[in-house]
Amino acid sequence: MRKKSVVGNWKMHTTADEARRLANAVVEGVGNDDRVSVALCPPFPYLALVGKILDGSLVALGAQNLYPEEEGAFTGEVSPTMLLDVGCKVVILGHSERRHALGESNAFINQKVRAALSAGLDVILCIGETLDQRKVNRTESVLDRQLIQGLAGLAPDALPRLAIAYEPVWAIGEGGHRATPRQAQEAHELIRNSFGKLFGEKPSLALAVLYGGSVKPESAAALLHRSGVDGALIGGASLNADQFLAIARAGIREPKTKGVAA
Ligand code: 13P
Repeated sequence: MRKKSVVGNWKMHTTADEARRLANAVVEGVGNDDRVSVALCPPFPYLALVGKILDGSLVALGAQNLYPEEEGAFTGEVSPTMLLDVGCKVVILGHSERRHALGESNAFINQKVRAALSAGLDVILCIGETLDQRKVNRTESVLDRQLIQGLAGLAPDALPRLAIAYEPVWAIGEGGHRATPRQAQEAHELIRNSFGKLFGEKPSLALAVLYGGSVKPESAAALLHRSGVDGALIGGASLNADQFLAIARAGIREPKTKGVAA
């Protein structure tokens, strides 16, 4: 069984003080327990301050976006090199909020994925269908297209640094529906099969597929213990250290008494 990954996507939340408190609490809660991989993705302005807190801990720093150029006249944008410079190991790309609210296309997301990987960042590529698409049985074709176009032209040696987050758009946020663990598992299977068709069976078996449809402490264990669910990308619950750590604990099969398993 692959080690589970639990990643906090803070979205456009927190002040500097809240970011500091949250990061410190997560670092303390994780301690030296490495049975689950943990990462935090604060907003850009707090990357450096959170990076300092995470430095030397088992918690990795991640970003929520980047621009696919090394430098230049791109007002308001942030490059892969800058993210590495402040200590990021990973970047979330293709989040549905960027696809739907900011109009990002698969082609643009693909440029970002390639730029991030070639700069040396790990990538979590988010994909997922809307409720309307699910209702008319288009889940598989939507996931396929987002994978095929989002991952076009990737070098095989970059694949170990790529994870996919399945984020059913209809299950994100407080007002969303809830996906059952079975629905999550089925979608993860579709994603792994589709990835296998693109890159071969071995990379598809090694691929981490995280679930990102509003995971809460109460729902975490049932989701994380499904076969093919390799972790979770958490929005709202990652803004509360106790809830986030409880989700991380749920990724451990045999809780002991230290660190995230306390
Ligand atoms: P919520 O956990 O707030 O539903 O958000 C999920 C998500 O979009 C994670 O990236």
